Amino acid sequence: MAKEKFTGVKGMNDMLPQDAAVWQHVQSTCVGVLERYGYQEIRTPILENTRVFTRGVGEVTDIVEKEMYSFVDSMNGDQLTLRPECTSAVVRAVNEHNLLYGTNQRLWYFGPMFRHERPQRGRYRQFYQLGAEALGMEGPDVDAEMIMMLSRMWKALGVGPVKLELNTLGALEERQAHRDALIRYFEQNQDVLDEDAKRRLYTNPLRILDTKNPEMQDLVNAAPRLLDFLGEKSRGFLSRLEELVSAAGIEYTINPRLVRGLDYYNHTVFEWITDRLGAQGTICGGGRYDPLVEMLGGRPAPGVGFAMGIERVIELLREVGQVPVSTQTDVYVIHHGGDTQKDALLLAEAMRDADVRVIVHPGEGSIKSQMKKADASGAEYAVFATADELAQGKVAVKCLREHAAEVPFAQQTLVDVADAPTAVAQAIAAVRAL
Ligand code: HAM
Repeated sequence: MAKEKFTGVKGMNDMLPQDAAVWQHVQSTCVGVLERYGYQEIRTPILENTRVFTRGVGEVTDIVEKEMYSFVDSMNGDQLTLRPECTSAVVRAVNEHNLLYGTNQRLWYFGPMFRHERPQRGRYRQFYQLGAEALGMEGPDVDAEMIMMLSRMWKALGVGPVKLELNTLGALEERQAHRDALIRYFEQNQDVLDEDAKRRLYTNPLRILDTKNPEMQDLVNAAPRLLDFLGEKSRGFLSRLEELVSAAGIEYTINPRLVRGLDYYNHTVFEWITDRLGAQGTICGGGRYDPLVEMLGGRPAPGVGFAMGIERVIELLREVGQVPVSTQTDVYVIHHGGDTQKDALLLAEAMRDADVRVIVHPGEGSIKSQMKKADASGAEYAVFATADELAQGKVAVKCLREHAAEVPFAQQTLVDVADAPTAVAQAIAAVRAL
């Protein structure tokens, strides 16, 4: 029988061990920053009832119309969806557990999201987001602080320059008036509209402004602008946000065309963009979503949040050469099998007690082949638990790397077995301090 070859699902990636260091670096750096702003972790299931997203994200959005992995649970007929984003899920959980009762919440999450998009560089069907949601606070101070927090994350990660684009979607009534004006305007120009635009005309005319169709650009550029429909309160909200962001020394541009692809937003929307990643240059998007908590059945409460695409952030770190090298082994223990293997295992335990990361050579093998494995493991040191040395109560320690001259055990050195864990731990500390 021919051997069957298995591959992963298209658009869904394996995270391989050589990339583990950069993934962990991104997550721990961002979480370190989030904690400095009082955010706490929340984890919600990957599956939600489909209604959470159709109601939350909006029926007439690309995500809900074309991109969701939805299915009927054959056991009970439930309509379920693999989460395409996490804001709706977090709000569902916050409502379900009454987390806004008499208080507010600052929450963060990290995990996979699923969208059936056409895969390309920076765009996948399973991708990871790190996001945060600040619930129960009206802003714009909270929006500004969130932008300051993101700016701090970019610095801590070392992603290089990223552009901040800001816009406001105003309040519901203002959007309604703008929407009516847009519909009237597009109705008068039906002949220029493409199929997509015609379909959206009465359901989501705002999204027509997002069109990539070059033949519609003039029409879209001359369309009524939301900015002209904003009342004093909304204008004040935006100008206070601008004032606070500027005071923090963060550069931004106002992009009146920035509408975002999810329906729950009002007032602030923003994106962070790089020109180093080609077409998928948005590394982070977010905004205020005051209607969402109530839309998902809770008592009205405001919210603002963001999510960054981890694959894109990592890709950008590679572009700017900021990827940490992965070192996961400090010491490789070489032995002669038999009793020396037992001694090697026990010595390794003692080194681990001293916080050293140790691999003991598995099974047996010639010293030469074990040395090759030691080198390939990336270990800084080899420890030789070999028969002659052990017979004298000693092991040999040797630095395997180029910086040997600057750290202990440049030459192969005999050390008492009892002293070896401490001596090796000190040597590793010297290497780390280089
Ligand atoms: P979003 O703009 O749909 O917003 O996604 C946020 C980020 O996730 C994007 O800027 C991008 O970096 C990344 N991303 C989106 N789709 C893909 C994909 N197919 N492949 C790789 N990366 C992708 C949201 O999801 C909102 N929930 C953000 C938010 C939180 N708003 C308020 N709170």
